[in-house]
Amino acid sequence: KLNVFHWHLVDDQGWRIEIKKYPRLALVGGKTDYTTFNLVQPMAPVSLPQGGYYTQEDIREVVRYAMDRFITVVPEIEMPGHSAAAVSAYPEVGNRLQIAESGGDTSFMLTYNPTFSSSGTIGWDSNYNVDDSTIHFLQDVLTEVMALFPSKFIHIGGDEVDKRPWHANPKAQARMKELGLKDENELQSWFVRQMDQFLAAHGRRLVGWDEILEGGLAPGATVMSWRGMAGGVTAARAGHDVVMAPTQFTYLDYYQWVAPRLEPLAIGGFLPLERIYDFDPVPAELTAQEATHILGGQAQLWSEFIPHPRQMEYMAWPRLCALAEAVWSPKESRNYADFLSRLKPDLEKMKILDVRFRPLTPMPAPIAHWKPGDAVAQFTEHEWDVTAAITAPGQYDAAFLQTGGRGHTEVEWIELRENGEVVQRITRSASTDWGQRSNDYMFGLQTYHPGSRYTLRASMRDVGGVDAAGDIYLVSQ
Ligand code: ACM
Repeated sequence: KLNVFHWHLVDDQGWRIEIKKYPRLALVGGKTDYTTFNLVQPMAPVSLPQGGYYTQEDIREVVRYAMDRFITVVPEIEMPGHSAAAVSAYPEVGNRLQIAESGGDTSFMLTYNPTFSSSGTIGWDSNYNVDDSTIHFLQDVLTEVMALFPSKFIHIGGDEVDKRPWHANPKAQARMKELGLKDENELQSWFVRQMDQFLAAHGRRLVGWDEILEGGLAPGATVMSWRGMAGGVTAARAGHDVVMAPTQFTYLDYYQWVAPRLEPLAIGGFLPLERIYDFDPVPAELTAQEATHILGGQAQLWSEFIPHPRQMEYMAWPRLCALAEAVWSPKESRNYADFLSRLKPDLEKMKILDVRFRPLTPMPAPIAHWKPGDAVAQFTEHEWDVTAAITAPGQYDAAFLQTGGRGHTEVEWIELRENGEVVQRITRSASTDWGQRSNDYMFGLQTYHPGSRYTLRASMRDVGGVDAAGDIYLVSQ
């Protein structure tokens, strides 16, 4: 049922497709002397030369293989941001040289920033400049890409563009003025329009992440809505086509289990099988006419935290089975229990095929909750009876999972207590909204005394509101 493979071939960390006219893109931009996969200090770079890219012949083979199975491959060439790999290969298409030539300060770009998905904090030369020669450079790249991929849609990225390099670059500022654009958002929109017109002139259609809405959407653009569904709703109402790919329902790089410490290291987030099965790519607020613009839904599997294909399989399956059903079945006709029973034979097939899917483990019931008003602006202590979850000595993982509220609840420390006596206290600040991969605490119980009363005590506060609520799980390893 999954009939499109969106192939993200370019990012800050690597350029992965051979371009004949610009060989350095793959040869230089495809190599790094570090990896960001780091179990000890997630996202901090570790010295480890690595690299690799797909030759054009490799690409043709993948496209043919997919086509034989009625799958369209949509390539993504990121621009104008997430472009550090390309700029490292051809510095003249970036901003640093131009800023330096004008005597400007480039120190904000000099250090590698481990929070490599930028959001305004990236510290390297991550954007293309806006010279005509750079636009032509990218259009030449797209010409080779179009020759390799018969897909009607070509993805140009467009997400998370750090506006600071353009802001600091006098040439970009001059260009903005000359074009009569009022800010860097409009400059981004202008950039995307150059690609939209170019692709349209070649009979193709541009698709980009929802940030391409900022500063005005290019006339022919299709929007891939990842920061929730709102961008997709706006675009559909304006008559643009949309692919729904919201983080909260479709990001397969998110954890799939309540206790992150019992899972392979991931970026954060929480997307259990139940939730992706609930995904509905067509928001109820759209009229029937507007809804015709929703082309479909898509799941994303970013690989910064996936060092090996086996782990890729673990993150993909069986959640992709749930996606396949969700995007082709009206919500009213879906039944999770029925899906699970039909999934069993598929998992048996995956075993035979040696696919390392994540085993089905039913979500445990929460052992306790916090409700709006429990966590206030100052740290306060709370205690919950968890006797029912403690049945033997061993290792336990206590996970705090926020389920609602504008802000987020922060945990300062937790204690396991037996009949009021502290067994173990763990002091570590944790955000319960799953952004920090730290919302669970592993502790050991050396001696178990049947009949004892076990409690979990925590110091918590709410940051950004006093309306956060959540569930607490206690899982034995
Ligand atoms: C994205 O996840 N930055 C599209």
